Amino acid sequence: METTATEDIEQEEIDLAPVEEILKNLPDDSRSHLIPTLQKIQNVFRYLPAPAMELVGEALNVSRAELYGVISFYPQLLITEPGKYIIKLCYGTACFVKGAPIIGDKINDCYHIRPGETDSNKLFTLQTASCLGNCGAAPMAIIGEDTHGTIDPEKTLDILGQYKLEDAPETEEATA
Ligand code: FES
Repeated sequence: METTATEDIEQEEIDLAPVEEILKNLPDDSRSHLIPTLQKIQNVFRYLPAPAMELVGEALNVSRAELYGVISFYPQLLITEPGKYIIKLCYGTACFVKGAPIIGDKINDCYHIRPGETDSNKLFTLQTASCLGNCGAAPMAIIGEDTHGTIDPEKTLDILGQYKLEDAPETEEATA
């Protein structure tokens, strides 16, 4: 028997009003708008909360299995809340041969995250990406809103360290 979207979904306390608004404006052939609908919802929450997916399944008449099957196909669609900064490390051919996997290993050494994971401080989520469109500057990564080219393991850790520093509470300044 097929599982419905309303079964076995962990409930989270979120305001579903934006989801209802997005679903209200769907055209008749709404199933064909599944991916754009998921992207819009992710733009609101930064990920796809389970209760929102329940509403999507009902509105678009898509089973839970089908819905999560689609989501799992697109690495940019997230079912858990990501860290403050998403690291998109390019694993396209040019970046791969110029050491992207070594950079990924270094990030894992330091922050204990593999692709798809978020560090314990919820600061960084690591993702891999196919070509980011600037192979001349390989290896490439997008971290948060910023693009970084010709990176290497040490440079990458320095960059991540700066984000970490920016995120640190200003307690030292206040107590100085
Ligand atoms: S392969 Fe990485 S930017 Fe093209």
